[in-house]
Amino acid sequence: MITSHLRCFNPACGSEQPRSTTSYACPDCQGLLELTYDFPSLQAPDWPRLWQQRLGPGPGREGSGVWRFREMLPLFDDGAGMVSLGEGNTPLIAAPRAAQWAGVRALSIKHQGANPTGSFKDLGMTVCITEALRLGVGVVACASTGNTSSSMAAYAARAGIKSLVFVPQGAVSGAKLAQAIDFGAQVVETGANFDQAFRLLRQMSDQLGLYLVNSINPFRLEGQKAVVLQILEQRGWQPPDYIVLPGGNLGNVSAVGKALAELAALNLISRMPRLVVVQAQGASPFHQMWRSQSARISPVSEPATRATAIRIGNPANWPKAARALAQTEGITEAVTDQEIRAAKAELAQGGIGCEPASAATLAGVRKLREAGEIEPGADVVAILTGHQLKDPDYITEQLGRGGMLQVEPTPAAILGALRDWN
Ligand code: F0G
Repeated sequence: MITSHLRCFNPACGSEQPRSTTSYACPDCQGLLELTYDFPSLQAPDWPRLWQQRLGPGPGREGSGVWRFREMLPLFDDGAGMVSLGEGNTPLIAAPRAAQWAGVRALSIKHQGANPTGSFKDLGMTVCITEALRLGVGVVACASTGNTSSSMAAYAARAGIKSLVFVPQGAVSGAKLAQAIDFGAQVVETGANFDQAFRLLRQMSDQLGLYLVNSINPFRLEGQKAVVLQILEQRGWQPPDYIVLPGGNLGNVSAVGKALAELAALNLISRMPRLVVVQAQGASPFHQMWRSQSARISPVSEPATRATAIRIGNPANWPKAARALAQTEGITEAVTDQEIRAAKAELAQGGIGCEPASAATLAGVRKLREAGEIEPGADVVAILTGHQLKDPDYITEQLGRGGMLQVEPTPAAILGALRDWN
């Protein structure tokens, strides 16, 4: 049995907190909290073989691409009360066309859109909603650009817990809102952007007795580590040169970096892949901070990008993201909405759909390759964070109806209309 501890992430503080805490800000210094483990020392454990053996169709723990890696998660009693929808175990797809476009030797896509609610958030949500159920909380809540809220609403419904969502007004894809509504969440549209909605929610969470499941919730990040374990398993435990992901509130890069550091400490990987965080240019405070080697982030007060999932100006997890980049010799990049659009089109032409924020990864690889920061021989894994149908309005906005034809229902008319096609 592996013991876990809930600790303040701030190195100057490091205080240990009781597992019963639900506010997820250090009471001593207001820092972020994180889970740490008393892992076995010395020899590499035989976990990869165990994890592979468990891989199966489910139902139950072994059908989840999160819970079968449970040696690296905070323990829950024998899976009782586990809230799972069979998340994870998503495909790793070779993308030779995109690789050529970006100018790298090999590129594969870890498609997180293939999760139950269509985004990577499900990996974290299964763990933190299980914790919420264990703690007996009445209401779970989040502020969201849309994917966290759809995921929370689904897992909360599964657990029989009420859920409350704060979303910025008019700035979230209708498809994502529809998911939250379908799963029975109470949706509150408020504030001009995610940062404002999140600030309000944090202010009010004690008053309303809420359990927050944003990525400041350390249990969320533990679940999101599983993407790394899946990628490595799918690659026979050979790390790629780079793992690329889009950055918003910076929870995902923090989780991915933590997984890599833990695997290195366990001697389960011999080489660190370099992490690459790609932000949208109009919402790129972390990229600015990293490139200028600043000690702190300077928030962007009016974040702007059509990739609404990552329209965030004041990312909460920046200290954890900075550690992840430092530990992996990481790189950051910022890409314009035009660059995102071009990358998304390129992926689509190779049969790979995703939402705009996810395509920022490929745009970033191309840009870094052109700048000589990523070498032509690189072997890259890009994490596509959300499904194509998460934002269908974007597609019709950008491409119109793709030359769709409206034709009288007769063979002759259809033949006539298709004469110039091809
Ligand atoms: N990609 C997609 C599709 C997202 O929905 C998000 C974040 C990110 C990337 C960035 O991940 O925040 O961990 O750096 N979406 C959050 C939400 C903010 O509310 O759904 P991050």
